[in-house]
Amino acid sequence: MGSMRKNWFHSLPNEALHAEFLQDVSKLLLKEAVFAGTQRKNPVVRFHDPDHLYDLLNLTPTEKPATHTELLKAICDTINFSVKTGHPYFINQLFSSQRDGLGCAPKLVMFASEDAHYSVHKMAALLGLGEQNVCSVQTDKTGRMDSLYLESQVQRIIATGAVPFMVVATAGTTVLGAFDPLPAIADVCTKYNLWFHVDAAWGGGLLFSRTHHHKLIGLDRADSVVWNPHKLLAAPQQCSMLLVRHPNIIKACHACNATYLFQKDKFYDVSIDFGDKYLQCGRRADVFKFWFMWKAKGSIGFEEHVNALMDCASYITTSLRQRPSFKLVLEPEFINVCFWYIPQSLQGLQEQPDFNEKLHKIAPRMKELMMRKGSMMISYQPLQSLPNFFRFVVQNSGVTHQDVDYFLDELDRLGADL
Ligand SMILES: Cc1ncc(COP(=O)(O)O)c(C=O)c1O
Repeated sequence: MGSMRKNWFHSLPNEALHAEFLQDVSKLLLKEAVFAGTQRKNPVVRFHDPDHLYDLLNLTPTEKPATHTELLKAICDTINFSVKTGHPYFINQLFSSQRDGLGCAPKLVMFASEDAHYSVHKMAALLGLGEQNVCSVQTDKTGRMDSLYLESQVQRIIATGAVPFMVVATAGTTVLGAFDPLPAIADVCTKYNLWFHVDAAWGGGLLFSRTHHHKLIGLDRADSVVWNPHKLLAAPQQCSMLLVRHPNIIKACHACNATYLFQKDKFYDVSIDFGDKYLQCGRRADVFKFWFMWKAKGSIGFEEHVNALMDCASYITTSLRQRPSFKLVLEPEFINVCFWYIPQSLQGLQEQPDFNEKLHKIAPRMKELMMRKGSMMISYQPLQSLPNFFRFVVQNSGVTHQDVDYFLDELDRLGADL
């Protein structure tokens, strides 16, 4: 590590470090995948038994980053051992479910905090559970699910004769970046025999940081976890994982055993044909991006990236406090730094009855100004009864303290006359 350049882990392209590598990757893709991979004289697949392939591809992630030569070899091997679906002799699957349904189920109710992602409600609607059967659990003043309230709601639902079946906890809420108390929620799930799902889409990347991974204590008790490396770890969109504790349950839920696609009488071990496990049929292997990044950065690289983001959030917080026009919504726990911009015209007027109404209009107006000027983009939103506020969420570890100063100066410039 000693000989490594400073900031080598930043999620920003650096011409001196990356230009030659990207040119080499492009050349390799063109040569091996596009041209060699589609020539009739070359094989459609270089078949190896899956166990052997595991060794050949050197799949296990490492602590330290791989060298460019090793990364090029990893890409070359991946191409080499992949089925060449663009080959003219590839005439296979096209690359371009449970029986009773809810009809025989009692009324099923699930629980999620009032700050959980909207996808929980969408999922309930799509599955036919009904959005009104998502019980919204109160949060405390830091945005964390109140586990005592959760238990009281579970008891209330049982008393109505309905059946609670799942709690969705969030590790890193979308707006405030709060971490629900996973151990206490896990205890409720164990007590009432509920499925414990953790939405760690945003916060899951903290697992890489030895300084910050304590926020995810209790994650190991989950029945299922969703984690999106395309968020905190800055993997290219889209790269989302669902990890499930119970072996075979996904297959049992989803497999349709369509014999015209998932033949059982193949010459190799069909238990590693995963296609039928998924909801969709023809999709690419998004996990490759994560695996390749992990190889390139090593666990250490992801750790440095995450720590740099947390440091940046703490710098933003300290800087905001020193500026009279900025007011924190709450003490940040994660990368989400939420704040109001209070222009001079509104300062000192907090007690006036229409203060919140006026403040609510400031962030959208400033967003419009920044977008029309093209100087930067920062998102804003209301939350529960709070008027619109900005949410500063840095996912790019290449953002420097000077960049933060620029953001705050620019906000001051845009908001000065409002
Ligand atoms: C906490 C949380 N869960 C889930 C999602 C949905 O993510 P995606 O649609 O990218 O999988 C988001 C997106 O912002 C999120 O913040």
